[in-house]
Amino acid sequence: MSSNHSQTIVSLDELRQRTEAQLEKCLQGNIPEPLGSAMRYSTLNGGKRLRAMLVYAAGIAFNTPLEKLDNAASAVECIHAYSLIHDDLPAMDDDDLRRGKPTAHIQFDEATAILAGDALQTLAFELLVDQSNILLTTETKLKQVALLAKASGAQGMVGGQMLDMSATNESISLTDLKAMHRLKTGALIQASTLLGVLCSERASSQEYDALQNYAEKIGLAFQIVDDVLDETADTETLGKQSGADKALGKSTYVSHLGIDAARSEAQKLVNDALQSLGQLSDNSALLEELARLVVQRIN
Ligand code: IPE
Ligand code: IPE
Ligand code: MG
Ligand code: MG
Ligand code: MG
Repeated sequence: MSSNHSQTIVSLDELRQRTEAQLEKCLQGNIPEPLGSAMRYSTLNGGKRLRAMLVYAAGIAFNTPLEKLDNAASAVECIHAYSLIHDDLPAMDDDDLRRGKPTAHIQFDEATAILAGDALQTLAFELLVDQSNILLTTETKLKQVALLAKASGAQGMVGGQMLDMSATNESISLTDLKAMHRLKTGALIQASTLLGVLCSERASSQEYDALQNYAEKIGLAFQIVDDVLDETADTETLGKQSGADKALGKSTYVSHLGIDAARSEAQKLVNDALQSLGQLSDNSALLEELARLVVQRIN
C-alpha cells in the first residue's frame, strides 16, 4: 500500500452509519436503569451527526485510517447529546421535543435526564483515553482530552450556554452575540474538526491553523442557521419546537439582524471556510461537502 491515496473513498452516508454503529457499541454494557436507557435514548435517536462527520472528514483529509478516528467521533457525539439533554431541561430552554421525540426529561424524569447528561459527558473522556486503543499514542490522547475538555467546559460550550441564559430577554450587541455563538456551538464544532486532525498525527502547524479557521467559520455559521431555522422551518421538519427562541425571548442572529441578513452572514462564513481548505494538499472533498451542508438547510 502506498502511503498516499491509499484510503478507499467513503461517503458522508457511510460515515453517518459508522457513527451509529460505533455509538451503539460504546453504549452497551452494564449501566443501572433507567440511566442506561436514557443515555441510549438520547444518543441513538438520529441526530445529523455533523460533529462525528467532522472528526472523520478532518482525519480523512490527512489519510488517517477510520479506526483511528472512531473513538473521537463517538466522544464528540456523546458531549453533544449531553449538551442537548441539559439544554432542553426546564431550567434551561424547557423543550418537550428533540429529534422528533419527547425530550429526555419528559420521557424519563428530570433526575434521570441530568444524570444521563453527566454520564455521557464522562463517557466521552473515557473513550478518548481508552487503554485498549493502541492506534494512538498516549501523547495524542492527552492532547485530545485537553482539547475536548476546554471546548466543552467553562471556556467553551458551557460558558456559551451561560451567556445564552444571561442574554435571555435582554438585547445584546452583535459582538456579544457572536462571542456567545462561538462558545455555545462553535467550540465543539471546532474541537471535533481538530480532534480529527490530531488523530492523523501528521498535520503541519499551517494545516492545523487552516482547519481551525475552517471550523471556526462553519461553527458560527451552524448556529446562525439553527437560529434562522427556528423561525422559518416547521416543528416536524426540525424535530424540535419551531419558534421556540422567540417564545423564550432568546438573543439570536435573527432577533438581531433579521432573517435575510442572518442567512447571508451564514453563507459568507461558509465561503470563507471553503477558502481556508485551499491550503490543504489533498482529500478535503468531505470537508467541503460538510461546509456546504451547513447552509444547504436554509437555501
Ligand atoms: C442542535 O445541534 C443544537 C445546536 C448546537 C444548534 P444539531 O442541529 O447538530 O442537532 P442534531 O444532533 O442534528 O440533533
Ligand atoms: C444549544 O443551542 C447549544 C447547545 C446545546 C450547546 P440551542 O438552544 O439553540 O439548540 P436547540 O435549538 O435547542 O437545538
Ligand atoms: Mg439553548
Ligand atoms: Mg435549545
Ligand atoms: Mg436553537
